[in-house]
Amino acid sequence: MLITGGSSGIGFELSKLFAADGHHLLIAAKPQKELDLASTKLQEQYPNLAISTYQVDLAEPQGSLRLYNAVKKDNHKPDIVINNAGIGTYGTLLDTDETRELNMLSLNIVNLYKLTRLYLKDMTEQDKGQIMNIASIAAFQPTPMMATYAATKAFVHSFSRAISFELEEAGSNVRVTTICPPATRTPFQQSAGMQDTNTFDSIFTLNPDRVASDAYKALWKKQDLVLPGTGMKTLSALVNLMPTGLRMKLARQLLLKKNG
Ligand SMILES: NC(=O)c1ccc[n+]([C@@H]2O[C@H](COP(=O)([O-])OP(=O)(O)OC[C@H]3O[C@@H](n4cnc5c(N)ncnc54)[C@H](OP(=O)(O)O)[C@@H]3O)[C@@H](O)[C@H]2O)c1
Repeated sequence: MLITGGSSGIGFELSKLFAADGHHLLIAAKPQKELDLASTKLQEQYPNLAISTYQVDLAEPQGSLRLYNAVKKDNHKPDIVINNAGIGTYGTLLDTDETRELNMLSLNIVNLYKLTRLYLKDMTEQDKGQIMNIASIAAFQPTPMMATYAATKAFVHSFSRAISFELEEAGSNVRVTTICPPATRTPFQQSAGMQDTNTFDSIFTLNPDRVASDAYKALWKKQDLVLPGTGMKTLSALVNLMPTGLRMKLARQLLLKKNG
């Protein structure tokens, strides 16, 4: 199985679950140091683990293709591909850093699109395989203070679910699963510049192991969409009944600065 961003947060917890079940892990992430650390930790815990790491910047225009080619060159044909790598930005649009936002658009959207397309082709030829794309609860509504991030996740959700529908309609055995986690305690909070917000203190906030275990179960059940956490599906359905303006106010409230 191949996972992007498998050395940290939700991705690392998913890696552990696959390692425990004896899968050969192919993990891609940006800094080699973090990949080495994750690899060492996993091998200590699972001494018989087969693991290959790929150092790649997936926000770069050729990053996704470089990863795909490197995996192929090593003679691996992943039957499960998890597009998990993603970054966030926080603030009103003009307060965000444009370069980071453009990187985020490349990573969260373009890279996910490319890897999904490349592996879907291979899997469709074999009529077997699974792709899991990590979106976010933010995918369901415009989100002030995270306008661009939420829009990238709306793309992931809409794109992945539509493909899942197409595959099912075509009678394919290939499956696409979309995961929409709520706020989760990972390094994402710090890297997105959200350490001073209330977002990660709510009763809906999860630990990454819970998100990973819900996602892992969903994958084996070949579910189309999963909202990790207890009652999140019902809560989301209720919230979606509200007018968009009210939903945006609620989202804004959750994204307030602690002292703001
Ligand atoms: N945490 C949340 O509240 C939350 C909620 C909903 C959805 N999500 C989504 O869940 C996914 C995982 O996030 P997380 O919370 O686990 O965050 P995380 O701990 O920061 O993990 C993100 C992973 O993506 C990798 N990555 C970042 N930029 C990359 C690049 N340019 N090229 C290759 N890899 C790159 C990181 O690798 P390096 O660190 O090695 O660069 C890291 O392994 C993301 O798609 C995120 O949007 C998170």
